[in-house]
Amino acid sequence: MATIEIDKVSKVYHGNVPAVSEVDISIADGEFIVLVGPSGCGKSTLLRMVAGLETISSGTVRIGGRVVNDVEPADRDIAMVFQNYALYPHMTVRENLAYGLKNRRTPKPEIEARVAEAARMLELGPYLDRKPRALSGGQRQRVAMGRAIVRQPSAFLFDEPLSNLDAKLRVSMRGEIKRLQRRVGTTSLYVTHDQLEAMTLADRLVVLSGGRIEQIGRPLDVYHAPASTFVASFIGSPAMNLVQGELHGSRLAIGPALIDLGKAVPTQGAVTVGFRAEDLQVAAPGGTAGHVGTMPLRVDYVEELGSQRLVHGTVGDQTVTVALGADAPLSGEMPVAVPIGRLHFFDAETGRRLAWSSVEAHRTTTAADLLEIAR
Ligand SMILES: Nc1ncnc2c1ncn2[C@@H]1O[C@H](COP(=O)(O)OP(=O)(O)OP(=O)(O)O)[C@@H](O)[C@H]1O
Ligand SMILES: [Mg+2]
Repeated sequence: MATIEIDKVSKVYHGNVPAVSEVDISIADGEFIVLVGPSGCGKSTLLRMVAGLETISSGTVRIGGRVVNDVEPADRDIAMVFQNYALYPHMTVRENLAYGLKNRRTPKPEIEARVAEAARMLELGPYLDRKPRALSGGQRQRVAMGRAIVRQPSAFLFDEPLSNLDAKLRVSMRGEIKRLQRRVGTTSLYVTHDQLEAMTLADRLVVLSGGRIEQIGRPLDVYHAPASTFVASFIGSPAMNLVQGELHGSRLAIGPALIDLGKAVPTQGAVTVGFRAEDLQVAAPGGTAGHVGTMPLRVDYVEELGSQRLVHGTVGDQTVTVALGADAPLSGEMPVAVPIGRLHFFDAETGRRLAWSSVEAHRTTTAADLLEIAR
């Protein structure tokens, strides 16, 4: 096992705009880091530079304290699992698992022991003598994982290993990857564009946009305090509501709604306001109590998810989504309320989070806020 240090790493392909710009990530021994971001943001490029499959334009990559910029991929002591994990079709599962070790001239008894151990962990025992074509997609994926595990590398690098699987299988494989990584404790760098996969797998996640880091943090910290409107709209489903507002003293105007924040805010004038769909409730009849801001929502349409209903509508001319309980009462126009502490503020120009942190606020006022909404 090993630490991975990515220090001011950049990649410029053929003199074009940089694909990765000055990325700093320090990965602890045994940590599971997920790189997440939209298509083209540089995730694979960064991973491939760590793997040694892509040259590093500038900066340094260290694995286990050793600078590996000029070290061949095979000598970096890492194992990769790709989206297209191409198993050797003419080999059995056992031979597929053993192949890399054989190539490295590992002694036969050692190979057998490691293959047996990986097969046990991944529950591949019954399939060891089958060819890949006689396996389901999920089983093949497990063989691909097994090939990485038998190597006992100091780090795993994953590039969207689950994206070829159907939705249900992805969820179960996600669980297996997490369980496995817990068990073997190997440092892992995992690439996905799926924010849910990132949230559920990561010890810490790294949100990338346009080759740059937007935010690094533990999933719930990122969820509760997104560093920018980009992160706010990328992490969490449905995406955080982002609307334009105006701050005057301690008052916030969002379209027709006027919300008393109860305290001064370190900025005035135009601001981007964020609030999550699940933090909105149908406002109690008879107006609002203390720490709640109310907005009139004109309902456009409702999505029934079974466990909840997503109500899509507008406040003034800005779209807002509200997640309500499955049996919440609906009407064409209804007041919705959000606890003041659950409001996020972002600079209207740059999109960066503003200091009046809703996180501290909501951690101390949650219970009171909920009571007030329930009243
Ligand atoms: N070999 C290459 N030559 C030139 N440009 C490239 C090359 N590989 C990637 N790029 C560009 O670099 C940027 C980052 O690509 P990269 O493959 O790292 O994105 P990604 O985040 O992995 O996206 P995806 O989620 O679609 O896999 C993109 O703009 C891409 O077009
Ligand atoms: Mg990619």
